[in-house]
Amino acid sequence: MYQGFWHFSHISYDVFSVEAMMTMQNTFQAQPTDIYLITLPKSGTTWIKAVTYAIVNRERYKNSTLSSHPLLAYNPHKCVPFLETEVFGKTSVYVDGCLPRLFATHIPYTSLPQSILDSGCRIVYMCRNPKDVLVSLFHFTNKLRDKSRCQMAFDEAFEMFSKGIMPYGPYWDHVKGYYNFSLEHQKNILYLTYEDMKEDTVNRVKHIAEFLGYPFTKDEEARGVVGEIVRLCGFKSLSEVNKHGDFREGVPNDAFFREGKVGDWRNHLTDEMTKVLTQITEQKFHGMDISFEVGA
Ligand code: A3P
Repeated sequence: MYQGFWHFSHISYDVFSVEAMMTMQNTFQAQPTDIYLITLPKSGTTWIKAVTYAIVNRERYKNSTLSSHPLLAYNPHKCVPFLETEVFGKTSVYVDGCLPRLFATHIPYTSLPQSILDSGCRIVYMCRNPKDVLVSLFHFTNKLRDKSRCQMAFDEAFEMFSKGIMPYGPYWDHVKGYYNFSLEHQKNILYLTYEDMKEDTVNRVKHIAEFLGYPFTKDEEARGVVGEIVRLCGFKSLSEVNKHGDFREGVPNDAFFREGKVGDWRNHLTDEMTKVLTQITEQKFHGMDISFEVGA
């Protein structure tokens, strides 16, 4: 545990260690034009990466044919690097060279490099109903487990999640950290939920574009550019592109696409489990105006 949050303790996962995080905290230089996409794992990171990449690079790829848009050829995780993996992790160094620099991270607010907070850059934070995060994480973990290792039981996953044990968790503290930050820095951070994105993707995409300083022109809207981006980044399109191949060793591309729905927790949680998570969530988020179905 580091600064109140759980992290991978060794580097063989190909993600960064606590040591690497400390180096990053001290040395990373953010730029005012940077964009950071921040999420907890399984909260829609892949989706928000694709959407943001498509928005800010739409001029660059406006004439692209069917297979020449990067999102039609690569996993969105290849298009937008994680600070903790490609930039400061074992796999280093990914620099696209294009502006704005687009990064993603799962790092909790308390450990974010100060230069990101000071630079005035834009941050998009996306969170998701804790019950769906748990279910998604459970499936993802089992998919990545070596066939020779036993699969995690759902009870075990539930116990750990409820105690706050997940990568970059506790879930509630992560969400709360960025929520509180967003209240004071509305110009710099856009706080979104996966559920809102699902419900009204077109308007959310427009909102993200405006927030990032890349609003759609009337002409673009008339030409249906927003709809094109929504389709390009939709579950159907991305999961088709990522049906085969590996994102990196031991991580198949298709591991990032499972159901892509709101409320799949209903197929996994017992009434008792539901009660426990609802209670924890109500307690932890007391007084916060978080709009996904916390009580559901
Ligand atoms: P499920 O496991 O509930 O299906 P992350 O990208 O943070 O790892 O989150 C993965 C979750 O987001 C998975 O949820 C996955 O199916 C879903 N997802 C991935 N791409 C999506 C998209 N384009 N639209 C909606 N959901 C998507």
